[in-house]
Amino acid sequence: MQDISNGMLRDRRVVVVGGSSGIGLATARAAAAAGAEVIVVGRSAERLNEATQGDPRLRPQVADAADPPAIEALFATLGEVDHVALMAGGRAGGRIATADLDALRADMDTRFWGAVTVCRAAAPRIRRGGSITLCSGAVSIKPAPGRAVVSGMVKGVEALGRALALELAPIRVNTVVPGVIDSPRVRSAFGDATADPAAVAARIAEAYAHLPAGRAGHLDEIAHAFLFAMTNGYFTGQSLVVDGGYTLT
Ligand SMILES: NC(=O)c1ccc[n+]([C@@H]2O[C@H](COP(=O)([O-])OP(=O)(O)OC[C@H]3O[C@@H](n4cnc5c(N)ncnc54)[C@H](OP(=O)(O)O)[C@@H]3O)[C@@H](O)[C@H]2O)c1
Repeated sequence: MQDISNGMLRDRRVVVVGGSSGIGLATARAAAAAGAEVIVVGRSAERLNEATQGDPRLRPQVADAADPPAIEALFATLGEVDHVALMAGGRAGGRIATADLDALRADMDTRFWGAVTVCRAAAPRIRRGGSITLCSGAVSIKPAPGRAVVSGMVKGVEALGRALALELAPIRVNTVVPGVIDSPRVRSAFGDATADPAAVAARIAEAYAHLPAGRAGHLDEIAHAFLFAMTNGYFTGQSLVVDGGYTLT
């Protein structure tokens, strides 16, 4: 993969929490391609090993973002780092009358409290010039039925990021706000992508043709946003929306 960071990640240490799949894995690979050592964090050792094999710059580490002692132990072991990105999030949702509240609380523990935990554990170990980049979702701007609680959670992540940009300065803290990105998670909502990838791709193409960009986003395009947030030294306290125009429709 081409270096999209102008050499600014060369020999830097980057931690990607939620990095064994989708947006996190694309970001980890982009940072590694730019010369960083990348610690890739997820809950499943098997998924992590599969995702990182073949690239010595990708170092798998098992930890659950929703488990504060595990996250504190992870950063204590790692020592100094330069950039931290957090994409961990579950798939809970549903209309407020019928949604599984336990599942939503567990997702809150990962997305919101996970962000709190990661920022608290990482901040004292981030070198000068470093950053934290959180992950939200375009439902924070354009809500949809069945996504109300998740909208609240991810808006909370953005507000947390803005406030921490003040509190943790000069560490820069930002949030990337993806629209629909063609990740394994999104594909799984359109059918069995292993059995029939062409049919799933065709359904996704049809579903998002109405967007101004005319399609769902590519993983590389959202990884690019995370690398921008890591490497632009004047970018802090912001929510970076990368949604192909979804929030305009
Ligand atoms: N794809 C989209 O269109 C889209 C749009 C808006 C927002 N987002 C958000 O972007 C993030 C990434 O989405 P994605 O599509 O790339 O999802 P994905 O393919 O399901 O990847 C999620 C990653 O997070 C890890 N993870 C989940 N819970 C974790 C936890 N508690 N601790 C540590 N790691 C955890 C998963 O690995 P393990 O399960 O093995 O831990 C996996 O590596 C999510 O927060 C999602 O809500 C995605």
